[in-house]
Amino acid sequence: MTIRYETPHDAAAVEALLDRSFAPGRERKTAYRLRDGVPAIPQLSFVNALPGGAVAATLRFWPIAVGWDRVPGLLLGPLAVDPALQGLGFGKALMRHGLAAAEADGHRIVVLVGDPGYYAPFGFTRDLTRNLAMPGPVEPHRFLARELVPGALDGVHGMVQRVSDDAIYAPPALIGAGLPVFAEP
Ligand SMILES: CC(C)(COP(=O)(O)OP(=O)(O)OC[C@H]1O[C@@H](n2cnc3c(N)ncnc32)[C@H](O)[C@@H]1OP(=O)(O)O)[C@@H](O)C(=O)NCCC(=O)NCCS
Repeated sequence: MTIRYETPHDAAAVEALLDRSFAPGRERKTAYRLRDGVPAIPQLSFVNALPGGAVAATLRFWPIAVGWDRVPGLLLGPLAVDPALQGLGFGKALMRHGLAAAEADGHRIVVLVGDPGYYAPFGFTRDLTRNLAMPGPVEPHRFLARELVPGALDGVHGMVQRVSDDAIYAPPALIGAGLPVFAEP
């Protein structure tokens, strides 16, 4: 297998792979609110290509603003492997590659919504999101984060926000004033 950057030519294959890997309606998930109108980071968008070029797996990262101080961070995902090729190490290889690239590029915080059984071995934990909230419903135990720089989430609290839009989120002063906060306190 070859891991390489996603190119514009891969877009249709990646969308088809995501459609095959996830249940219909994936775009309605809360994580997609953070991606709405925001392109994935090209330097952190990878595919796993088979000999001949077919796309076997995809991993993208999106820029996000974390907490009320809008600390720069990354949203990891979607991660998807062709259903016919799952369990062969494609996903783990993409995770290792993507996280190493993110770290090398100087990113400090990675957030995701996903299965803790899969992501814990990569250092993702619910403990790091206890002071954070997503802008919509998520199962709290699937709301995970990893620090690429130790301590990067120290003192960071509040909503994970779409990077390009300040206006739709309430200011910090309104925390606790009846606003919906979807993660556990
Ligand atoms: C989840 C997914 C990305 C894993 O990729 P993969 O290439 O199939 O997995 P890998 O071969 O790298 O890793 C296999 C290991 O992960 C484990 N694993 C796979 N899915 C898992 C899950 N949901 N929870 C916990 N462990 C999981 C397997 O049991 C296996 O463990 P082992 O190495 O101890 O035998 C892939 O199955 C997939 O695309 N699923 C559908 C889309 C999806 O759910 N994406 C993740 C969104 S959170």
